[in-house]
Amino acid sequence: MIANTLLLLGISSIVRGQSAPPSTLTGKLPALGWNTWNAYGGNINEAKILAAANQFVSLGLKDVGYQYVNIDDVWANKARDSKTNRIVPDPAKFPNGIKGLADKIHALGLKVGIYSDAGTNTCAGYPGSLGNEDIDAATFNEWGIDYLKYDNCYVPGNWSDASSPPGGDWYNSNSAIRFRRMGAALAAQPRPIQYELCIWGQANVWDWGARVGHSWRMSGDSSATWSYITSIINTNVAHISSTKFYAHNDMDMMEIGNGALTLQEQRTHFAAWAFLKSPILLGTDLSKLSSAQLAIIKNKELLAFNQDPNVGTAAVPFKATSSAPTTSPPEYYSGASSKGTHVFIINTSSSAATKTFTLSNVPGLGTSGNYKIHDMWTGTDLSGTYAATASFSVNVAPHDTVAYLLKKV
Ligand SMILES: *[C@@H]1O[C@H](CO)[C@@H](O)[C@H](O)[C@H]1NC(C)=O
Ligand SMILES: *[C@@H]1O[C@H](CO)[C@@H](O)[C@H](O)[C@H]1NC(C)=O
Repeated sequence: MIANTLLLLGISSIVRGQSAPPSTLTGKLPALGWNTWNAYGGNINEAKILAAANQFVSLGLKDVGYQYVNIDDVWANKARDSKTNRIVPDPAKFPNGIKGLADKIHALGLKVGIYSDAGTNTCAGYPGSLGNEDIDAATFNEWGIDYLKYDNCYVPGNWSDASSPPGGDWYNSNSAIRFRRMGAALAAQPRPIQYELCIWGQANVWDWGARVGHSWRMSGDSSATWSYITSIINTNVAHISSTKFYAHNDMDMMEIGNGALTLQEQRTHFAAWAFLKSPILLGTDLSKLSSAQLAIIKNKELLAFNQDPNVGTAAVPFKATSSAPTTSPPEYYSGASSKGTHVFIINTSSSAATKTFTLSNVPGLGTSGNYKIHDMWTGTDLSGTYAATASFSVNVAPHDTVAYLLKKV
């Protein structure tokens, strides 16, 4: 009986999916970089991607930590090579292949990402990797790939999930197994490849994502709208305890530079991705960014919070005053960094009320002593000193976010 059970378990783990934990040689901190999709959709080529890589250097983005230059969908031929079964880069778009482009990006001291899909096709109808995980992972390794975004389109019907997963753990769902197969194939490669599960917040990925990849998408695709920003903050906050070193809720690629977001909304977009420790993958034609937009995405103190090597957890909502209302999404967050305790306040509503918090309500701050309040956006201390028992009030512009470090004096 026991032997039979073991035999069954053994067979089922072979048939139903391999597994390997994600590499600890990469992906400890949220990825900082750029991706082609929000900027260009499928209209990509070597020149555009190399231009972005060069702009990382010329605009000072590399200096503040942006590293990944990521190729999204529509880079391949529609058919695999009939002899080798490998995915073939579109020679019109990539005359030097992906390897040739990767070499040039590496020569700039940057890293390169590619895209595939845990189905038979990518979302735009190019070859997917389901059933070809090993050969595709080996190909990406040979090309020098450092990051894989793995999408979720064209899933064959027999891979659909049951309404509840085997054993109550979504790690054993068919969705998770599709992503685990590529994780195992990547783990077998000599090159550490950061692994993004682009699973659109399905199959309770926040419960098992860390066992399979370094980051996982919490939703469908982003849009350059205030409603997307507030809704994804809400979604992320609901599962914020899943974010830690090597494990990041991904709020999707940035929209700064796209659409009609106000400058305040772009500040909130960047600050929230930073303090919730999402990957920050820029998604626009970098040459068109204004100096105000560049100042937002290059803010060193917010980037340092996002990339803190000693603190893996994100900022979390706190009750700012004893009478503070509950809002959706929350407006007041606090979190620790190597520098100390931080407070972030988003003005989400049309309420005219001033934003106020009592210092002793900030988790970890304590109930005694005096504090200076340091503005992370401007890099300067506000005037005055506040006792732990005091309240602090600030006028926040519509849809803007303030970011503070509280320093004991
Ligand atoms: C779905 O069918 C394919 C082709 O027969 C097979 O390789 C795969 O294992 C099946 N998937 C599941 C979850 O049973
Ligand atoms: C926050 O923004 C709203 C508009 O959304 C504005 O009416 C309100 O005055 C702002 N709140 C504060 C405290 O500045």
